[in-house]
Amino acid sequence: MITTLGVETSCDETAIAVIREGRILSSVVSSSVPLHERFGGVIPEIASRYHIEYVNKVAKRALRNAKITFDDLDLIAATETPGLPGSLLVGLSFARAMSYALDLPFINVNHVHAHLFANFLSKDSERLRFPFVGCVVSGGHTNIFICRSLKDFELIGKTKDDAIGEAFDKVAKILGIGYPGGPKIEKYARIFSRPAFMPVKSNKPINFPRAYMDNDSFDFSLSGIKTAVLYHVKKKKISRREISRISWSFQEAVFDVLAERVGKACKKFKIKDVFFGGGVISNGRLRAKFERISVNSGYRFFYPPPALCVDNAAMIAGLGEVLFKNKKQ
Ligand code: KG4
Ligand code: ZN
Repeated sequence: MITTLGVETSCDETAIAVIREGRILSSVVSSSVPLHERFGGVIPEIASRYHIEYVNKVAKRALRNAKITFDDLDLIAATETPGLPGSLLVGLSFARAMSYALDLPFINVNHVHAHLFANFLSKDSERLRFPFVGCVVSGGHTNIFICRSLKDFELIGKTKDDAIGEAFDKVAKILGIGYPGGPKIEKYARIFSRPAFMPVKSNKPINFPRAYMDNDSFDFSLSGIKTAVLYHVKKKKISRREISRISWSFQEAVFDVLAERVGKACKKFKIKDVFFGGGVISNGRLRAKFERISVNSGYRFFYPPPALCVDNAAMIAGLGEVLFKNKKQ
């Protein structure tokens, strides 16, 4: 039985978790999101400095919550890539120093793979099996993989420009509704989708462009729709009602493309299971769309619980533990 400490500092969350044989003993996340709010996006310098300030405190709390001491640890895992270089360096240096000081093995973990692995930490993880289509939708990533084992992630599609979460954040900035944009846009879109709104003519959804690229591709392009929103707003002051209409229409356009890409991957590779990961998959409208597709198609969609969708270190410790065990065999 091994106990693993995981460290995640790839973007704006300082996160440390303790895992024992796939069971989460503690998972602590301290976020610098409020410090980035007035800029409408992550400022790398602020994120790195926040990690430096908080990483020790977060580690101490993770050990305390897990009711263990340094002596109970057997393995240290940390996010190696991808991420903001300055942010990654803080977590990696911290984790490597710990592994050296405690004389424990160290393992590097890929952040995007860990987002998909988060599904294995959920309650119904025994239903999960390979191969699956893996779809990571977050502030930094929009990727579709064919996953044949925990060491075999074949990347088949990615964004050519903005990540989906990034597009949500940028559109929210255009609409002046704050950061992070995803939850705000979802909230405004929910108001528009209420039936009472629909009969008014000016409240018809806006037909924002859906960039399907060419037929064989699994890639995404989201800069066009972002520009379309910008042209639609044209710097004029817009009402809350219009913000709701834009939010709904933008969300639908982006999610239609995502659903088409994922469905096409299932069909081409003859795979019925899809695992999601990343902050955007906490969106209720997106989940409802996939649930409807599931009823009609027989595909099975899996999502981690909300706390494991966003950046966290439990997914890093969990994947680190499994990779370490595989390596030793
Ligand atoms: O996975 P995550 O915490 O960090 C990254 O690895 O990027 O994802 C954060 C992103 C942000 O861009 C945020 O706007 C988006 O996920 N997000 C959402 C929702 N909640 C968070 N996007 C759409 N709908 C949501 N409910
Ligand atoms: Zn992430």
